[in-house]
Amino acid sequence: MNLIHKVIKNKSTNLNPIWIMRQAGRYLPEFRKIRKKNPNFIKLCLNKKLSAEITLQPLKRFNLDAAIIFSDILMIPYGLGQKVEFKKNFGPILGDLIVEKLSKTTEIEFSNKIKPVYGAIKKVNGDKLLKNKATIGFVGAPWTLLVYMINQQSPKKELKKYFFKNKPLINQTLNIIEKFLKIHIKNQIDNGANVIQIFDSWAGLLKKEDLTNYVYAPTLNLVNYVKSLNVPVICFPREIKNYKEFCEIVKPDAVSIDYNVDPKKILRDIKIPIQGGLNPKILLTNKVTIKREASKYLNIFKDHPYIFNLGHGVLPETDPNMFDYLVKTVKDY
Ligand code: CP3
Repeated sequence: MNLIHKVIKNKSTNLNPIWIMRQAGRYLPEFRKIRKKNPNFIKLCLNKKLSAEITLQPLKRFNLDAAIIFSDILMIPYGLGQKVEFKKNFGPILGDLIVEKLSKTTEIEFSNKIKPVYGAIKKVNGDKLLKNKATIGFVGAPWTLLVYMINQQSPKKELKKYFFKNKPLINQTLNIIEKFLKIHIKNQIDNGANVIQIFDSWAGLLKKEDLTNYVYAPTLNLVNYVKSLNVPVICFPREIKNYKEFCEIVKPDAVSIDYNVDPKKILRDIKIPIQGGLNPKILLTNKVTIKREASKYLNIFKDHPYIFNLGHGVLPETDPNMFDYLVKTVKDY
């Protein structure tokens, strides 16, 4: 059994497995080289050979315990026929949301459009670099996908005023998203993903009274679905104010915490395995600081099932040598 499964399934402590959100990406020169030749990001995600290669790039360099498949949460709107583009130094830009178009998409059409992602998972999973390591598949949570699909770009700090105006549109879109997220999860698992992470990057934007409808209920539904397929599921409800309540209601197998979470408090509040926490900016400092800050998390969670990770994705300006130093620090702890 790989270390990540041991932590999640057996609740083992002191194993300190490590993987890093966005470990396959822009901080690696070998990624930037491929990216330069492939200006269309979605097309790159749909290039089975290249996306498998990019997924394996960090595993060739660092002693990580998992591969996370090189793809994007926005493959769902793309697969449903909503236009998705990535503008340099701006982020994603989506086309108009036309619900009639989404609701006409069939399961076969969707799966065929995304097929190379599943092929890449199969390829990665069969690679010798994955021996005793986890293959992580992922999806965006229904709420976070809804945000991108309606807002049509990253919301930064707040939602547009009209966001909740058209409730029937929201409910219809959420239902469609949930249906296709299940299909996407099943396809990833059928092709070798043996952990699923659900990214709810915008959970922190909601008011308390909206959490049940948009985060708790749809995420619980997905979590139960993943559990029914016998694969562990990790939730990352980024910047949600009440992680304890989230875990009590949604009951994921493990929870990933952002860097604003007080690790000592969460240790008192939550019994399930915990992942992450370290501020990605720490990797932009120096070895002494990296060691001190990483050790803080390792010390606090030494008797708790814990997977080392950051509190959000690794920043593009990170020096790969500092990344390597972090991995070694965790492994030598
Ligand atoms: O290594 C990995 O983690 C696997 C691949 C992965 C990507 N995106 C590749 C990517 C994963 C797991 C994601 C998840 C994702 N995508 C999330 C959830 C996690 C989070 O960061 O909160 C979100 C919100 C997205 C949507 C998205 N995709 C945005 C906002 C952007 C642009 C800004 C940014 O952070 O880069 C992307 C583009 C994207 N997805 C890149 C990569 C490597 C950069 C593409 C490039 O310009 O080269």
